[in-house]
Amino acid sequence: MALTRNLDAREVLNQIVNDPRYPDVMHVPLISPQQIVLAVSALGIFGLATYGALAGFIPVWVAMLLNLVAVYLSFTPLHDASHRAVSSSPFLNDAIGIITGQLLLPAVNMTVFRAIHMDHHRYTGQEGRDPDTAFVMPPKPFGLFYLMFADVHWVLWYLKHGRHIWSRKVAIYLALLLVTMVAVHVAFLVSPWWKAFLLLYVIPQRVGLGVVAYTFAHIQHPEGLTWDKAPFQSTMYMRGHSPLRRLLFGQEEHIIHHVVPHIPWFKYKRVWDLANGVLKRQEIPSRSWFAGPGEIAVPGPDAQQPIPVRVTAVHDEVPGIRAIALRTIDGRDLPADAGAHVDVHLQAQGMVRQYSVVSAGNGQITLAVKREDHGRGGSVAMHALRVGDTLAISKPRNNFVLYESAPRFLLVAGGIGITALLPMARRLKSLGKPFALHVCARDQAAVPFMDELLRCGAHIHVDTLPGRSSLDPDALLAEHDGATMLYLCGPQGFMASMRAAAARQGWAPAQIRVENFGTLRQSGEEDRPFTVELARSGQQIAVRPEESAIDALAREGIDVPFACMQGTCGTCITSVTHGDIDHRDAYLSEEEKAAGDRMCLCVSRARGSCLTIDL
Ligand code: FES
Repeated sequence: MALTRNLDAREVLNQIVNDPRYPDVMHVPLISPQQIVLAVSALGIFGLATYGALAGFIPVWVAMLLNLVAVYLSFTPLHDASHRAVSSSPFLNDAIGIITGQLLLPAVNMTVFRAIHMDHHRYTGQEGRDPDTAFVMPPKPFGLFYLMFADVHWVLWYLKHGRHIWSRKVAIYLALLLVTMVAVHVAFLVSPWWKAFLLLYVIPQRVGLGVVAYTFAHIQHPEGLTWDKAPFQSTMYMRGHSPLRRLLFGQEEHIIHHVVPHIPWFKYKRVWDLANGVLKRQEIPSRSWFAGPGEIAVPGPDAQQPIPVRVTAVHDEVPGIRAIALRTIDGRDLPADAGAHVDVHLQAQGMVRQYSVVSAGNGQITLAVKREDHGRGGSVAMHALRVGDTLAISKPRNNFVLYESAPRFLLVAGGIGITALLPMARRLKSLGKPFALHVCARDQAAVPFMDELLRCGAHIHVDTLPGRSSLDPDALLAEHDGATMLYLCGPQGFMASMRAAAARQGWAPAQIRVENFGTLRQSGEEDRPFTVELARSGQQIAVRPEESAIDALAREGIDVPFACMQGTCGTCITSVTHGDIDHRDAYLSEEEKAAGDRMCLCVSRARGSCLTIDL
């Protein structure tokens, strides 16, 4: 299952991909020196060592060791090529992957390797869907020996499961791969060069495959945790500072690779910093290199459960806006970044509502709720809370991230929207970052947290007439430098008029951030079947509930390029000419999703029964 199908995971992904630095992190150049050095090293070491041994310049055992190293090095270019992270040229990318990959998997091609590897990503840990599950839990007592025959295991896995899932094209390529591999081995092993072939290739390749399966699969996933149930816990990172970590070529932070698979290996570390380090805070299991099962730190099963809290203080900030302090009953802390919100579970009313966190610390968070007598009941229930009442909340989550690396900030709040922007102003003030804060309200008496707002240098704009603010959005937004980030929070009408003014004044969509804690979680219904119609041929293809549109198209022999199958890279974006899209990716902006004319075929689906795509 795609990571974006999990709503909590999708929120984290949205934070990462919305970081202004993300496009640079995911950029794949035509030529990456790091990828070329690895590929040339693998092929060069193998060629020189083999020649050296055959010519008698070095002992055979030295050449065997060097060839083992070459086989190990060859995995990373092959692997990154499967995610199109080697070169921006599809031809060069696949050529480098295929050529280098021959050392590790003779006769391998990208169609087969992509099918295998992408299913590992989509279904990590799921028996019968993840082709690599057996590498995590190899049969005892021959586990390591078993890993040396990873390719044989994949073929057996295909016969048992894959043939019901993968396209005919993959089956043909897999058969071709098998025939070629067997033919090459037979040809050499019955030839006069059988001994050199065995010592200089077969043994280093088998042992190398075992080492690759151990380091890049076996030690990277905790047993029994699956991507669909615990996306951030089914993949781990290596603890410690051992120089050995460098031998993993980025996979010591394997979780990063699973979250944003299309990023080249040498850029993984930069993902930790995106969205103020949100990924680091996802309770990712960790281990040391040779840890036994009991030494692997795996978070408890209640990591995502609602947290019981008690109301510890209630007071009216201004008439109609009530500040409510909540303390965790078990005393745990609830760290919340500026812009974070919590889901409040009002069990008695059977409601879940989202509220921005005004402040957090020492196991306590404070929310501020405006009473809406004609709303859906959530604010009235919140205003009925009394000190000592108990309820449950989610951990603080954040899809309104303050991207602190930006040079300047403009924060504009409408009414109660100040609850999300006040923590941002507080944070920017503590960082010494340049910012301006504007607050629109009916009148001075309707502005909560006035003292602190004034300490933050807020500009207060009160209505000149009922519903007419003294703030002129066009005048405020007329000057901008292309680097300032604009943060908006308030009623829908307020945000719509501010966004329209920003567009008129030439602000780029990537510079504008709005609080949308409702919209991300409205999607994600059950996976229903639908039909994809190809606009050019009229062909209709059924998409089953358990498959993506890309899978269904591949079944019919229609290839759409993909690189992540998680909705984070944009490789599979396709124009839609008719139909209502259920966007589930983290790649397209809210504006692009609202336009409804493009979709990520790897994760997004139809809201109705049919989508017509431009193919
Ligand atoms: S393959 Fe990456 S977004 Fe679809």
